[in-house]
Amino acid sequence: MRYVMKGGTPLAGEVTISGAKNAALGILAAAIMSDETVTIDNLPDVRDVAVLLDAFREIGVLVDRVDRHVVKLNGGNIFTACADNPSIRKIRAGYYLLGALLGKYHHAEVAMPGGCNIGTRPIDQHLKGFRLLGAVHENNNSRVILDAKELRGAHIYLDMPSVGATINLMLAAALARGNTIIENAAKEPHIVDVANMLNSMGAKIKGAGMDVIRITGVERLHGTEYTIIPDQIEAGTFMMAAAVTKGDVTVRRIIPQHMDAISAKLMEMGCEVNEQGDSIRVVGRPTLYSCNVKTLPYPGFPTDMQPQIGVALCLAEGVGTITESIFENRFKYVDELRKMGADVEVVKGTVGLFRSVGVLHGADLVATDLRAGAALVLAGLAAEGITVVDNVDYVLRGYEDFDKKLQGLGAEIRLAENEEDVKKFKFRMS
Ligand code: EPZ
Repeated sequence: MRYVMKGGTPLAGEVTISGAKNAALGILAAAIMSDETVTIDNLPDVRDVAVLLDAFREIGVLVDRVDRHVVKLNGGNIFTACADNPSIRKIRAGYYLLGALLGKYHHAEVAMPGGCNIGTRPIDQHLKGFRLLGAVHENNNSRVILDAKELRGAHIYLDMPSVGATINLMLAAALARGNTIIENAAKEPHIVDVANMLNSMGAKIKGAGMDVIRITGVERLHGTEYTIIPDQIEAGTFMMAAAVTKGDVTVRRIIPQHMDAISAKLMEMGCEVNEQGDSIRVVGRPTLYSCNVKTLPYPGFPTDMQPQIGVALCLAEGVGTITESIFENRFKYVDELRKMGADVEVVKGTVGLFRSVGVLHGADLVATDLRAGAALVLAGLAAEGITVVDNVDYVLRGYEDFDKKLQGLGAEIRLAENEEDVKKFKFRMS
């Protein structure tokens, strides 16, 4: 699958943001910890969610996809705590099945997590927490296997504020006997969303969104109805699209506070940013100014917005820098931007120096991971001429209707199934 686009059109109009992918994946795992029906609303219709739901069906979860954005789940008929299939190996969030199944059945066997190749992405912090809760861990034929006679509350100190480890340990501790403390916990909005969802099922979790989360284990979790928060990164991606195309875009159905670090950088680069209730309007200016960015755990500038702001820095006046402090290999997209004329130097794999080139020209590119793929689309929409971005199955993992939403803002972009589609688009645009 490829996106083919013609750059140069300032994006304008309103776009409605979907549910948060990285909240949905943890929330879906929490849902199957009950034997009662759980209804989830504002589900993003993205590949990662579809893959997780397929994995649920394979272990006996009753999955009723009411519509694109609503699913009813019932974990009462799960017949195995072993989740391993080719599709689950493709996504990272399969690892939430470890916390959910271990918490509910005191046993879990899950395929080693896959996910975007932006770094080694170990799960040692997850395993450290599971062991402290009383689980014995072994690896065999590329599966993670956890067993526990019982789960008892523990005091867990994370070496780094890991999003995945924080969510996974909340899942397991929710049904452990006694009190669990997670210190140095991640504070992303999706952590709070998963905690709120678990609490709506009868869990007792306090402090989510802060450094220390306290969990009092309960006997069981009951059914609930829950609506997922809007996707901070999808919203940020469209806000950055307004900046790089010098457009005027309003992102709707968001939580502005979640966007603070991104809004601040856009204003620093010279854009007009207006919060209006559950929307933010971003107006790009003829001149973008460079800035320095350091990716940090929430509430800092999110690593998942790093490639997108990298595109903006290519077009900004002056020299800007990005220090990637979360992942060790998240600048692969720079090689693709260089094909468009970008002048970027990456120092020691962690600092990107972006020199202004004023304009990018269209090229044939390849997405290297989910957010890099989205960023290359932004670059193509800002560039002169035609750009093709290949390997966009990555993008489909995390963005719902990305091409359609961009078309709704005036972008000349198509999702091409094959070379014929690309040729037709190029002919129409010539
Ligand atoms: C989640 O990944 C997200 N994925 C990522 O989003 C996001 O970039 C990341 O959090 C940071 O916000 C999902 O939620 C499915 P971490 P995760 O554990 O949980 C190291 C996207 O584009 N670490 O917070 O894997 C790790 O290597 C994706 O939507 C350990 O060393 O991130 C990384 O350097 C990309 N040991 C850092 O911590 C561990 O046990 C942060 O990882 C766990 C993590």
